[in-house]
Amino acid sequence: MTIKTLEDLFHETVKDIYYAEKKLVKTLPKMAKQAKSPQLKKAIQSHLTETGHQVERLEKVFASIDKKPVAKKCEAIEGLLKEADEVMAEIEDARTIDAAIISSAQTVEHYEIARYTTLICWAQELGLDDAAQLLQATLDEEIAADQSLGHLAEDYVNQKAAA
Ligand SMILES: [Fe+2]
Repeated sequence: MTIKTLEDLFHETVKDIYYAEKKLVKTLPKMAKQAKSPQLKKAIQSHLTETGHQVERLEKVFASIDKKPVAKKCEAIEGLLKEADEVMAEIEDARTIDAAIISSAQTVEHYEIARYTTLICWAQELGLDDAAQLLQATLDEEIAADQSLGHLAEDYVNQKAAA
């Protein structure tokens, strides 16, 4: 048992989300390539840029607790992305592909939002103010990204209704 305290659990969870963010830096370009609508491509690309900053912020979080940045395999993100791939492989219609990408991307955002919300709570409890601030900056970006995806999902449904 390596997790004995809330500090340990905080550290382990930072490693987990660090893995997830780094994985997304590799995966988002593929998603952007698969997306058909220019707006969706743009939304994914701009979130890719943000995700790069989120990785750097997590490196600062590690530094703030005197730890080296180490990633620990996050089975949750692996599972979400695997499922996204499986769904994509079954779709031919371009507009349905976009709906599936939006759905997968929102699922990933919600996972990240859950992680960051918890980490901020623990950082505050542990008196890690610098870490809490860094994590909050990222949480704000994740929430904004989720909202933009939500608008794209609504546009998709409205266009479909109008067609
Ligand atoms: Fe992220």
